[in-house]
Amino acid sequence: MLIIIKNNYDEISDEGAKIVAGIIRKKPDSVLGFATGSTPIGLYKELIRMHKEEGLDFSKVTTFNLDEYVGLPPSHNQSYHYFMWKNLFNHINVNKSNVYIPMGMADDINDHCEWYERKIQQHCGIDLQILGLGANGHIAFNEPGSSLGSRTRIKTLDEKTIKDNSRFFNNNIEDTPKFAITMGVGTIMEAKKLLLLASGIKKANAIKATIRGPITAMLPATIVQMHQFTTILIDREAASKL
Ligand code: GLP
Repeated sequence: MLIIIKNNYDEISDEGAKIVAGIIRKKPDSVLGFATGSTPIGLYKELIRMHKEEGLDFSKVTTFNLDEYVGLPPSHNQSYHYFMWKNLFNHINVNKSNVYIPMGMADDINDHCEWYERKIQQHCGIDLQILGLGANGHIAFNEPGSSLGSRTRIKTLDEKTIKDNSRFFNNNIEDTPKFAITMGVGTIMEAKKLLLLASGIKKANAIKATIRGPITAMLPATIVQMHQFTTILIDREAASKL
């Protein structure tokens, strides 16, 4: 594992964007795994700047997102579809037909999850998967207790995650989604490289567990220790308990 500690959020965003841009420049038809949550927004902003000012070209890139809430249409302003278009895709030259995000409104969710896995395989896997980190150690929506070999599937959200996410739904727990479609831990581990980002004191305990272990399904992020090419990019606050 390569652990990079930067001073603050802006610095991890810039460094993360450099890593992503390096991969695209080396392989213009890269397959990138994107994440949602507040953490990668700065990285996406920097990628947009690189596209606009330095001509970073996304025209041949394919993207797969980690997860989506069940029951939210892409037009809902809290859906991860909406998030990705607003924070990244609308501002770069990605080809719409190369963008894959799980469909929270799929009629047959199990079928859809199998289709999603097949699509990743048809693209010969993900070159670089960006990951955020839940305060409870989740990656994507693989909550504590998720099988470390799990594949894309529907997952019930943890009480803590629902509480954390309720801030985006007018602090109303009733309106906050309780289920999500998520790539599995096994799916994520098949990406050729992982880039896990975390910022702020709220993530310090989860980062300590992720880096120091022990590896446990109760903290799914700990599995990244087993990947040959994991980069953990954190700021001083997130690193403060190491
Ligand atoms: C959600 C997402 C995760 C993300 C996490 C942390 O649960 N499904 O992929 O890592 O939020 O979000 P934040 O970056 O806002 O702390």
